[in-house]
Amino acid sequence: MIDTLAYARQNQERFLEELREFLRIPSISTQPEREADIQAAAVWLRDRFLAAGFTRADVMPTGGHPVVYAEWMAAGPNAPTVLVYGHYDVQPPDPLDEWDSPPFEPTVKGDSLVARGASDDKGQLYIHVKAAEAFRHTAGAPPVNLKCLIEGEEESGSPSFAPFVRAHRDLLAADVALISDTHILAEHLPSIVYALRGLAYLEVTVTGPSYDLHSGIYGGAVNNPINELCRMISRLQAPDGHVLIPGFYDCVRDLSPEERQDSAKIPFDREAWLEEAGAATDWGEPDYTIVERASARPTLDVNGIWGGYIEPGAKTVLPSQAHAKISMRLVPDQDHKEISRLVADYLQSIAPPSVSVKIKVLHGGEGAIVDRESAAMRAAFKAYSETFGVDPVFVREGGSIPVVAMFQRELGIEAVLMGFGLPDDRLHSPNEKLHIPNFHRGIETVIRFLAAFGELG
Ligand code: BES
Ligand code: ZN
Repeated sequence: MIDTLAYARQNQERFLEELREFLRIPSISTQPEREADIQAAAVWLRDRFLAAGFTRADVMPTGGHPVVYAEWMAAGPNAPTVLVYGHYDVQPPDPLDEWDSPPFEPTVKGDSLVARGASDDKGQLYIHVKAAEAFRHTAGAPPVNLKCLIEGEEESGSPSFAPFVRAHRDLLAADVALISDTHILAEHLPSIVYALRGLAYLEVTVTGPSYDLHSGIYGGAVNNPINELCRMISRLQAPDGHVLIPGFYDCVRDLSPEERQDSAKIPFDREAWLEEAGAATDWGEPDYTIVERASARPTLDVNGIWGGYIEPGAKTVLPSQAHAKISMRLVPDQDHKEISRLVADYLQSIAPPSVSVKIKVLHGGEGAIVDRESAAMRAAFKAYSETFGVDPVFVREGGSIPVVAMFQRELGIEAVLMGFGLPDDRLHSPNEKLHIPNFHRGIETVIRFLAAFGELG
């Protein structure tokens, strides 16, 4: 393994150059006009898997964007099998004028590589390709059997991924899933995520009059759907963040006293956190700490709201329609389908007869808690500890990776969330970046993990 680590160190520059090539492909999964780029990213990645030594790598069709599947079963039937999951699709770069360099022209600024997808998730998934390559050139092959499953729809709710996994259970059989799509607490403070939130996502359309009206002629006597939508939204959440939808908290698994104690021990600098978030002060449920509110409690957010006249100048209009996109972050054991139904029913029940309400469920996914005691977790702990020189801490995260629960359910395997991002990577925001030293430490950590898990297995 010493050789393998040395190989990775000697090739750092080339690895980074390759990642920059990957990042130049604007594989935005939500935008239909990016179809060709999605394909290009999948093909590019397949070729990198083959070049790294994988014996099989295919771009496999799904009902939507293809998945890239690669395999290298060199360690034999008695060795464990690791299923690496990642996503090659990225979020849209909007708003474009807030980027300091073009989102798909990866730019090195000090220790950062700035580009859409640098941290989420191209940079992190590429770590696994390069760790495998390092084994090939020094040991012939990785010390465990590797299967890699990289999807192209994660950022748009993975509509085709669950059916794909269900249809390929045998192909994907493994002992553990390994996912690098989260962050560690700080550059020199590694952490292992053991819980993620789920998500329910709805689009609401409120319709008033059948066409836009003169607000002088009709205003005051015909209900304005934008005003009404705002009134309805204001009834979804109390000023302190508590969600007011009946039944919303029924299935929420409470934090155990031990978990709250553990979470209180996590180093947390409120001022630095406010600075990083660009927020004047914190906000939310008073009975929970900031860390708990942002990771272990369910939430409700309006992601976007539109309707009526928004061009320059004034137009006196009573619009026909108002729209909002509303999402809920969920915790175990809230069911996203049930929550979407509760919200939809509640919105319908509070809408007055002067408007009609249409609700479309855009997507959803379950939250998850993973086993902290498994052999794979022990290997991950050791790998972080040796690479960073500090033991990792266990944390819950507020983001969502719905495949974790899906793998538990469909494949019967636990996941190890071995992330290498940093909290200030600006995921989904302008100027997303990857901390370059973490990219290289990530490769070393994965090398150590595969070696340790190979021995344990
Ligand atoms: N990598 C993130 C999830 C994440 C971010 C987990 C930070 C933990 C910490 C992932 O790519 C993501 O953004 N997922 C979406 C999921 C959704 C579209 C179903 C999310 O959380 O919004
Ligand atoms: Zn991601």
